[in-house]
This record gives sequence, C-alpha cells and structure tokens, in this order.
Amino acid sequence: MLTCCRLLLWQVFLRLSFHVVTASMCRGGKDILASVRENSPTGQFIANISVSGDPRANAVRLCLSGVNADWFYLDGRTIRLNTSLSRVLDREVQGSVLVAELTCYEDDVMQSQFRILVKIGNENDNRPNFLQGTIRPFTINELTAVDSVIFTVRAVDADGDMIRYIIDKSSPDARFFRIDLPNSGNVVLDKPLDYETRSHLQLVIWAQESNTVDEFNTSALVTVNVEDGDDQYPHFLPCTPVAPGVPVCISPAYSANITHKHEDVILDFSPGPISAEDGDRGINTSLMFSIVSGDDRGRFVINNLTGELRLTRAVDDRKLTPDFALRVMVCQVDDRLKCSVASVTVRVLYENTFPPVFNRTTFKGFIIQSSSPVSIVCTYGNQVLQVQASDHDFADGLNPNIHYSLRPPSGLYQVTQRGIVIARTERLLASDRHVLQVVARDEESGEEVSASVDIEVLQRGQAVPRGVFHEQQMFGDVDSRLAGGIAVMILLMFLSALLILLLRTMKSQRSPTDPEGHIALEQPDETVSSLDISLSQGESSSRSEGLHGVQVDQSEETLHEQNDCQQPIRDQKQIND
Ligand SMILES: *[C@@H]1O[C@H](CO)[C@@H](O)[C@H](O)[C@H]1NC(C)=O
Ligand SMILES: *[C@@H]1O[C@H](CO)[C@@H](O)[C@H](O)[C@H]1NC(C)=O
Ligand SMILES: *[C@@H]1O[C@H](CO)[C@@H](O)[C@H](O)[C@H]1NC(C)=O
Ligand SMILES: *[C@@H]1O[C@H](CO)[C@@H](O)[C@H](O)[C@H]1NC(C)=O
Ligand SMILES: *[C@@H]1O[C@H](CO)[C@@H](O)[C@H](O)[C@H]1NC(C)=O
Ligand SMILES: *[C@@H]1O[C@H](CO)[C@@H](O)[C@H](O)[C@H]1NC(C)=O
Ligand SMILES: *[C@@H]1O[C@H](CO)[C@@H](O)[C@H](O)[C@H]1NC(C)=O
Repeated sequence: MLTCCRLLLWQVFLRLSFHVVTASMCRGGKDILASVRENSPTGQFIANISVSGDPRANAVRLCLSGVNADWFYLDGRTIRLNTSLSRVLDREVQGSVLVAELTCYEDDVMQSQFRILVKIGNENDNRPNFLQGTIRPFTINELTAVDSVIFTVRAVDADGDMIRYIIDKSSPDARFFRIDLPNSGNVVLDKPLDYETRSHLQLVIWAQESNTVDEFNTSALVTVNVEDGDDQYPHFLPCTPVAPGVPVCISPAYSANITHKHEDVILDFSPGPISAEDGDRGINTSLMFSIVSGDDRGRFVINNLTGELRLTRAVDDRKLTPDFALRVMVCQVDDRLKCSVASVTVRVLYENTFPPVFNRTTFKGFIIQSSSPVSIVCTYGNQVLQVQASDHDFADGLNPNIHYSLRPPSGLYQVTQRGIVIARTERLLASDRHVLQVVARDEESGEEVSASVDIEVLQRGQAVPRGVFHEQQMFGDVDSRLAGGIAVMILLMFLSALLILLLRTMKSQRSPTDPEGHIALEQPDETVSSLDISLSQGESSSRSEGLHGVQVDQSEETLHEQNDCQQPIRDQKQIND
C-alpha cells in the first residue's frame, strides 16, 4: 500500500516527464465500472482487468489504491471483493459507491491508471424504525373533535424503503383511532373520547415497508392520556348511576327528622350529609350550594360551600307543617349553568321517649249472637271494649299516630282506630271463643305493642258478666263467706225488684196512657254514643269521620232481649262512610 502511494507522486512526475511511452507492457485497459450487492461474500467477482500486458511478467505490476481499495483484492486479472465476517459490505454504512484506482507499473514506473467505480447494490437488510420522539405518550383533551389529527408517527428505513402505517385493530383502544392516509402516519381521532370512562388509551401501530417484497415491519405501543374536559355536571352524593357504567347520577332524596324542640341546629340527613362533587373528577372545580325552593322564609339556610342545611327557627305548630319539602341546588362556581337539584324533606316528628303501652296483656270481650250484621264487642259490665294503647310522650296519653290492627287480620273482627273491636255478628256461633292479637303501632316511630283480646260469643239473651268476680261466681270459685254475702245481696236485689214490680203494676193500672207497659230504655253507657266507630280498613281514613252514636234499634220485639252494648249496627253504610 505504502509503495502504491509513493508511486502516486511518481506518477505525476512521470506524466509530466515522459508524456509519450511506447512499447509498454501495460497496454490497453480502461476505467472499470462494476456493481456488487451489499452483503456479498468475500471473493465476490467484481471485474476482469482488461490491461493486455502479462501481469505475471515480473516487469509489470498492477496496484490497487484509493480510498476504498481495501475492499478489493486482485486475483490474477480479476478484481474481487475483500470482506470478512467482521467486515460486511453494508451500503447503509459505506455509501452507494466504492471508489479505487488501478495502476499498472512496469519496472516500478507507472504506465497507466484507471478508475474503479463499484456501485453497491441495495439489499433490503433493514427494518423500519420508529423515531422515538413520535411515539412518546401523548396527552389529548377529551373534548378534542372527532376527525382531527391528534399526533403523527414517523418511522424510517435505512434501506430507504417507503413505509405505510397501520393501526393494529386488536389493540385495546384501536377503535378510537385511524390513520388518515397509509403513508402519512397521521393518527386521527375516530370516536369521541370520555375521560370519565377511559382516561388512558393504548394502541399498537405498525410501520411496514410498502415497496419491498419482504414488507419488513416494526411496531410501537403508543399511550394516549386523556385529559379531563368540563363536560360533566356536578352531582349530589351518594351517586346512584342511572345504569351500570353510565356516569349520570340520580340525585339522592335527603331526609331529616326534627321535633318542635329543635331550633337553630344543623340538620342531620339520611343519606347524609348533603354533599356533591363535580362530575369532571380530573378538574374537580369548586361547587356552590343554594336552596331553590321551600326555605320557608329563611327557616332553612344552606352553607353555600359545604351544603350544610341549618334550621333557624323552631316549628311552632306541627299540625300546620308536618313536613317541609325543599329543593337544593349545586352549581359549578365557574359555570353557573352546570347544576344539579336534589329534594330534601324535613319531617317534624313528635318527641318520642316512650313507646306506646297497653295497660293489660289480655282484654276480655263478649259479643252476643244476633241477626244484625255488625256489632260492637263489649267487656264486663256491658261496657264497650276499648283496647287503647297509651303513650307517655303525650300529656293525655293519646298518640294520634297510633294505628291499631289485628294480626293476623280476622275475617270476623275488625279494630277501629279508636281501639273498638267490631264483630260480624251474623257469622258468629254461640259459645265460640276467639283470641285475637291487637297491635298498636306508632306510625311515626315504628314502635309496636300488642295485646290479646279474648272474646266469648254469648247466646241471645245471655247476660254479659258484670266483672271478673261475677264470672268466677258462676264457676263456684269463691269462698263460702263471699258466697253468703252475695246470697244476701241477691236476696236484697230480688226484694227490691219485687217492690218495683209491685209499684209498676199499681202505676200501670192507674195510667192507661201507657198501655203496653213500655220501659224507658236508658243508655247506661254514655261512652257508646260518643264514640267514633269506623270500620275503615286503611289508615288514611282511619281518623276521618266515624259513626257518631250507634244506631239503637228501639223496636219493641228486640227491646227486651237487647243488650245495651250489643246494639246491632243497622246501617252498614253509615259505618263504612
Ligand atoms: C474473467 O476472466 C476469467 C478468466 O480469467 C473468465 O473465466 C471469466 O469468464 C471472465 N469474466 C468476465 C465477466 O469476462
Ligand atoms: C482486506 O481487508 C482487510 C481489512 O479488513 C485488510 O487488512 C486487507 O489488507 C485487505 N486485503 C487486501 C488485499 O487489500
Ligand atoms: C409484521 O411482520 C411479521 C413477520 O415478521 C408478520 O407476522 C406480521 O403479520 C407483520 N405485521 C403486519 C401488520 O403486516
Ligand atoms: C376535589 O377537591 C376537594 C377540595 O376542593 C377535595 O376535598 C376532594 O377530595 C377532591 N376530589 C377529587 C376526586 O379529587
Ligand atoms: C357564600 O356565602 C357567603 C356568605 O355566607 C358569601 O359571602 C359568598 O359570596 C357566597 N359564595 C358564593 C360563591 O356565592
Ligand atoms: C286502661 O286504659 C283504659 C283506657 O285505655 C282506661 O280506661 C283504664 O282505666 C285503664 N286501666 C288501668 C287499670 O289503668
Ligand atoms: C325519621 O323518622 C322515620 C320514622 O318516622 C324513620 O323511619 C327515619 O329513619 C328517620 N330519619 C332519620 C334521618 O332519622
């Protein structure tokens, strides 16, 4: 090599000094233009040298020189490629042309020189490669318009091949994107984004050679972070989605209970407390609460930041305002048109410290068989049986919210909202005995108490026992002293009755104006006529109009066998009204 270079200087000198050289052994020859494919093996034929002198003659010497001369070697009069395992001819590294010179010496005197130009043929030995800067994670706003180009990917191929870009349809979020033109690498938004449902998207993009047989490809996983845009309204908490996975909430119905004792308190709600959040969680803008309606002239005020609802004035008359219905609103501070409304109910309850109680566990009732359809059950002494629970939360012991019912409901009996038991007399059989369970329920607090009612059906004309005592007597369950006393009493009563009868007989003989001997019937039990009796089934009408004064059948035939409590209720309609 060194000699070649040294001789190069000689060449210039000789060209000048011996312009005409004759009888040279280095005759002929011309510039060599050849081509070789990259990656060719060592020894690959490049060209035959056309110098006609005999290169094997000692006097003639051929020499390769120039920048790329070491890529060649001479094999006789053939130029071959000089490569090795560690030195592969790579067009992408070496460039497209190898340049060298071939010099012919004769007795160390340069006779001629030719240029060697070897074009390196391209082989598709490279895959496309993405430019890293074009596949970094992108952040785009969820409000970005569909069909806009959101980013551009780019890949290069060292072989200079053309590249087309393809979105891998099997990648999880491929449906949101498309490539506008195959060779552009522009990724276009194909579907609207929604931060609330998907805030991170991933797609695989392929870069593939489009003008080669091999169609080498490469892929890149691109992450797209969705940025929250203000597209959601604020909502009250807790949120009940309208459907699973749909970020639209049904506003909760808040409720709180107060009593007339409450004044100036922050109300405790269920579900509670009243609170809200922006539907755009990523933005989480500040919210503002207000009362839309029902504040009852400032009785209720809301804290516009926290949503706390405060009662400022006590409720004086629970009957006038048993409950308050309000509507509260929450709006975005930065956009007063983005609001939600929820309903709030504040119920005014009675103070409840005591449960209702029955003052006995078993009530005793009697009913006399009769032809009338409906009758009132009475108790000892022919009094109207009233099963009533008392509630010490009320001064008079009467809680208006108590609802009475039979459990289980009976086809034969009903209990009114005054605690009066009514029987369907026509269906009863004498000497039947019915044990009912009556339940008193405080509709407001849900507290319940129960008692049993033991009812005996008596035969027509049979007297209602006057008391437990009398009843016991019938069973002879009394001691002899008591029996003696009673016997005396009965004797006395018998005598007085005899006396009255005597007097009546005398009177009737004297006054012919009362020929039929009518006995004025007194209503011994005033309570009956003043009681409200109603047979209504539902609680709505339970405290409505009742039946004022039970109709008493005054007809003569029934008069004598009629029992004061066991008045048949003639007018069914009147009861039901
Ligand atoms: C090159 O020369 C060799 C003989 O030296 C011959 O066999 C071969 O065919 C020649 N190649 C070309 C392309 O002329
Ligand atoms: C062939 O290439 C190697 C370098 O890889 C070089 O050392 C050697 O001299 C070359 N051969 C010729 C004949 O130029
Ligand atoms: C990429 O090339 C591989 C083989 O190397 C092939 O299996 C795959 O289908 C190609 N991908 C595309 C998108 O053409
Ligand atoms: C929204 O901001 C409030 C404070 O302004 C904070 O208490 C709340 O945790 C935030 N919510 C979210 C989901 O970031
Ligand atoms: C919230 O109420 C306070 C007074 O209670 C008032 O100063 C403030 O301006 C209100 N905030 C908004 C956003 O209306
Ligand atoms: C039980 O309560 C009734 C009213 O419900 C009342 O008339 C009666 O006197 C009470 N009896 C007792 C023993 O307290
Ligand atoms: C209010 O009282 C009713 C019973 O009258 C009860 O069912 C409800 O749970 C109470 N609500 C709250 C918030 O305490």
